[in-house]
Amino acid sequence: MRLLTVRLIISLIVGVMLVSLAFSYYGVRAERRRLTRDLDRQADDLGESLAENVEPHLAKGSQKELQRIVERFGNREHLDGVAIYSLMGTPIAITPGLVHRLQSEPPVVNSAITGGRGSGQLIKSKGSLIHVYALPLHEKDDIVGALAIVHDATYINAQTARMWRQTFLVDLVLVFCIACITLLIVHWSIVGPIAKAAQWMKALRTGKGAGVTSVPDIDLLRPLAREVESFAQSLTAARFAAEQEAQLRDAAESNWTAERLSVHVRNRLGKNPLFVVSNREPYSHAWRGKVLEVVVPPSGLVTALEPILRACDGTWVAHGSGEADQEAVNQQDSLRVPPEDPRYTLRRVWLTKQEEEGYYFGFANEGLWPLCHVAHVRPTFRDSDWKHYREVNQKFADAVLEEMAGTQNPLLLAQDYHFALLPRMIKKKRPDARVAIFWHIPWPHPETFSICPWQRELVDGLLGADLIGFHIQSFCTNFLQTVDRTLESRIDWEHFAIHREDHRTWVKPFPISVAAEGETAELAPASPFADRGTILRELGVDALFLAVGVDRVDYTKGIRERFQAIERLMEKYPEYQSKFTLVQIGAPSRTHIKRYHDLLGEVEAEADRINWRFQTGKWRPIVFLKRQHTHKEIQKYYRTADLCLVTALHDGMNLVAKEFVAAREDEQGVLILSQFTGAARELRDALIVNPYDIEKVANAVHQALVMQPEDRKLRMQHMRRVVKENNVYRWAGNLITELSEIRLESPGSAEVGAGLGASAD
Ligand code: G6P
Repeated sequence: MRLLTVRLIISLIVGVMLVSLAFSYYGVRAERRRLTRDLDRQADDLGESLAENVEPHLAKGSQKELQRIVERFGNREHLDGVAIYSLMGTPIAITPGLVHRLQSEPPVVNSAITGGRGSGQLIKSKGSLIHVYALPLHEKDDIVGALAIVHDATYINAQTARMWRQTFLVDLVLVFCIACITLLIVHWSIVGPIAKAAQWMKALRTGKGAGVTSVPDIDLLRPLAREVESFAQSLTAARFAAEQEAQLRDAAESNWTAERLSVHVRNRLGKNPLFVVSNREPYSHAWRGKVLEVVVPPSGLVTALEPILRACDGTWVAHGSGEADQEAVNQQDSLRVPPEDPRYTLRRVWLTKQEEEGYYFGFANEGLWPLCHVAHVRPTFRDSDWKHYREVNQKFADAVLEEMAGTQNPLLLAQDYHFALLPRMIKKKRPDARVAIFWHIPWPHPETFSICPWQRELVDGLLGADLIGFHIQSFCTNFLQTVDRTLESRIDWEHFAIHREDHRTWVKPFPISVAAEGETAELAPASPFADRGTILRELGVDALFLAVGVDRVDYTKGIRERFQAIERLMEKYPEYQSKFTLVQIGAPSRTHIKRYHDLLGEVEAEADRINWRFQTGKWRPIVFLKRQHTHKEIQKYYRTADLCLVTALHDGMNLVAKEFVAAREDEQGVLILSQFTGAARELRDALIVNPYDIEKVANAVHQALVMQPEDRKLRMQHMRRVVKENNVYRWAGNLITELSEIRLESPGSAEVGAGLGASAD
């Protein structure tokens, strides 16, 4: 580094000096020319007036008179004297002091006689510099001699010497400054950052920086830093996985990690290709100014499915809904993702406005969504929506089939209620494919489902799958009962399988979950209270107790009921007034649908109404944050809140409940959980509530706030164990195990009770 610094300084100095010298050289030359021109002008003025005196005497040949004139011009300021020359160039009269300085005729005298014009010249004479200006002398029109005006010009040399001296001094200061600035820049921008980076890398290498993967601020080395950063992340992840494996061996447990899932998937699938189809895509593209930006929609599905797709270089087919999605794909409408480390293919399917309107907003979200959720919102079924739903299912099926072309024994994981018809469409064309569909929302009682005019078609479409997954057993039961009442089929209640038209479909619960731990460690604050202070300051609220709710603004989530419970809390336990605040994070969702659009306003109005009743000074009971928050932002709330409120009126699983538990590494915080969520089956240590019972929910909030720390800790410890053991990797692993173990029967040979293997556990 020292050598580099010296080289840098020398190069800069040499460069700057050369430029400075060149400028000085031209400056000095210009100054010299200017001074000489000044002298020319002075001498010319003097010569012109003197010539008028001299010419009559020269004509008369009056040597004496001429000598007397020249003697008058000695020893004036800078003027050394004058000399008169004959036509032959010999001196006729000369100021006495000049005699020894003008020993030979200066060339300008000859030029004046022959050229008939005055001109000046600098001449070195006896160690000093003189300026001689000669002009012709006339008799009538004839040139009869020349007059030379001689000035002392040594001051010109002194002036230029002074300029060079100044240049030298300026250069000296410049050199000093350059050396100092270079040293500072090298230290600040290179030596310092490199030292920091080296320290950081060392910490990573030695394991002391585990979890600290964000690169220090090493601006100049940013491109290098980015690479090292992803390298460090892999290293940290690998170290974490290895440590976990060791811990697992030690504890003789068998927790699932992303790495374990990858290995499991590779072992299970071998060379069989894997496909996923979902409506939402894992990555979308948007313009930020002129830059094409990748957006990762906040979705638990990506966490679950990405390790599977990465492990076997699979293909994910999804709706290309991003505003700039078309710009990012190749001719096959696909691209490799994740963008920073491409490991699998994302195939985008384009929908027209009408298709999106009918299939997504219409049939899926105004029909099936309210049909499957008991939230007392009437489903709307329109013929035109149904038509689009069928067509779009076919469109996605065609895209999947296109991707499957040329492969053998592919596996397909279809996701959710957007694709009830797709399993049969695929199976029809590719009987060699193993097809599973996971229904992420509840399946209602058969009577409820029967109000759908196309229940037979939907159930028949689903039964094209080899495996149908729901979150909990009761949804599986509801589904089997629905099939029983809807279609001709043979149902094996013992094994939860349906046999219909030479095809067997297994129905199993797979409770989805979150990644549980590891991924959130780096987000941990020094103390939960540090975050609380910052959060409240940012919100401009004073409060002692903090509760959090995180939801899409959806009528199934019971947000209004939650607000009413807070209102009841304030009435019943006035001691919480000025002290307790619920921060409700509400991400606007599907607002194109009127019910959702209205709901957003209703929820806001309810919060306003309650706040108006109770708020004082900088305190209010409810803070409603109406926007999408990042995973990182939400983690802050989870980690610092006294309690989390999940009051869904009906929910397949509800991952917010599990995310909250996973985030509480401090084993604090209380979860209040609706009994109508799938999560309530697993998280028995939450305070389980009926969200319609406002009084009881208010009581539960009070109970959470006065709960003994020991009790709180025991409950949280237990819930954390449940979430850790049943994380999203286990969910995905079990799904893959079940699907890969299905034995595909040739038509006519399928027998209920055979073919499905043991689960991965
Ligand atoms: C539910 C569904 C998902 C869906 C998500 C967000 O969780 O089960 O399939 O992706 O809501 O809804 P959106 O309509 O925005 O995709």
